[in-house]
Amino acid sequence: MFVDMQPADYQPVVPSDLNYGIGLVGCGILVEGLEMPAYKKAGYRVVACCDKIEERAHIVAASFGSPLVTTDLEVLLSHPEVQIVDLAVHAHQRLPLVEQIAAAGKHIFSQKPLAPSLREAERMVGICRNAGVTLMVNQQARWAPPHRALKLLIDRGVLGHVYAITHFHRAYQDYGWYAEREDFNIVDYGIHYVDLSRYFSGYTPRRVKATTAMVPGQNAVSPMIYTILFEYEPSAQVTTTLHFNNIISAHALHDQVWFVDGTRGSALLSDPAGAARLSVSFKDSPERVQSFDSAGTWEFEGFAGSMGEMLMAVEEGREPESSGREHLENLRVAFAAVESARSGESVELRR
Ligand SMILES: NC(=O)c1ccc[n+]([C@@H]2O[C@H](COP(=O)([O-])OP(=O)(O)OC[C@H]3O[C@@H](n4cnc5c(N)ncnc54)[C@H](O)[C@@H]3O)[C@@H](O)[C@H]2O)c1
Repeated sequence: MFVDMQPADYQPVVPSDLNYGIGLVGCGILVEGLEMPAYKKAGYRVVACCDKIEERAHIVAASFGSPLVTTDLEVLLSHPEVQIVDLAVHAHQRLPLVEQIAAAGKHIFSQKPLAPSLREAERMVGICRNAGVTLMVNQQARWAPPHRALKLLIDRGVLGHVYAITHFHRAYQDYGWYAEREDFNIVDYGIHYVDLSRYFSGYTPRRVKATTAMVPGQNAVSPMIYTILFEYEPSAQVTTTLHFNNIISAHALHDQVWFVDGTRGSALLSDPAGAARLSVSFKDSPERVQSFDSAGTWEFEGFAGSMGEMLMAVEEGREPESSGREHLENLRVAFAAVESARSGESVELRR
């Protein structure tokens, strides 16, 4: 079998013509290093920057003409051109800000994870629903071209019935706020892989089993290594394994791969954060491999595509993909994995 896949088939829409005013709240590492360059390149309209530390807001504002700069959220919310607030503070800081922003009638594009507990996340979803504002959570990996190319292969059915999804990731984040945050590796960073596995399989597991380990001398307060097994309804006929070792100081051996195995063929996606390559091989000619170098990056299309989905959802008056309501499923999986790692038992998802 030969797969014909062009970049235009899988690259996300970047709706530069949608002119909604965006206010950034929290101008930290993520906003400065990833969102700001992507939004600038996409031509999105950032009209206000707010951070408790004024200098942080100024650094980010410098890239966008002359937006309002403030340390006071109320000042940003009273700016008439702010229609969408990109909420890039930490999960445990979000709830009072969500209350304030929703009360002002502004839509919210929140960074992940939405909240430090399921109950708090459900509360935020309810607050936004009652206020009639859109809540989306930035799971931008869904818009990264390598992941979209793999999803396209799955959706076209070329792999047949997908029965196994496996993720291996090797990185190092045993420093900074990552090391201070409880359960960071599963709930904060790892939530990308929980989300992608749901994106690829189309299913949410009903039960998870996780193991983790602490490493001698590590800085992080919680384990930086996990292995999580997902168990689905039997009718789904699929299994998922996620393994993330995020404490490998030997950087030269960092890597990231997804294997997706189906009844007709298999796909391997390697290093989606860098020069990503997607390879496929089919049951009818198993000695042959067809490979694609993915066009586009997690850094640009991922972030511009995710905010693009928010802009289009607001424009069309519909629930966005990766809405707050939908993100609750990721949190259910992640918190069940944390509980499983602690108890040593399989854990059913909370409903
Ligand atoms: N989508 C991704 O791939 C990705 C990557 C990195 C971080 N994140 C998420 O983004 C969030 C921020 O991460 P970061 O690395 O930028 O953290 P950071 O600590 O560098 O930045 C947070 C900023 O928020 C500001 N802040 C806190 N409370 C505030 C308030 N009440 N009003 C205004 N500003 C306030 C802080 O001063 C700080 O500048 C986290 O939830 C993190 O998980 C997502």
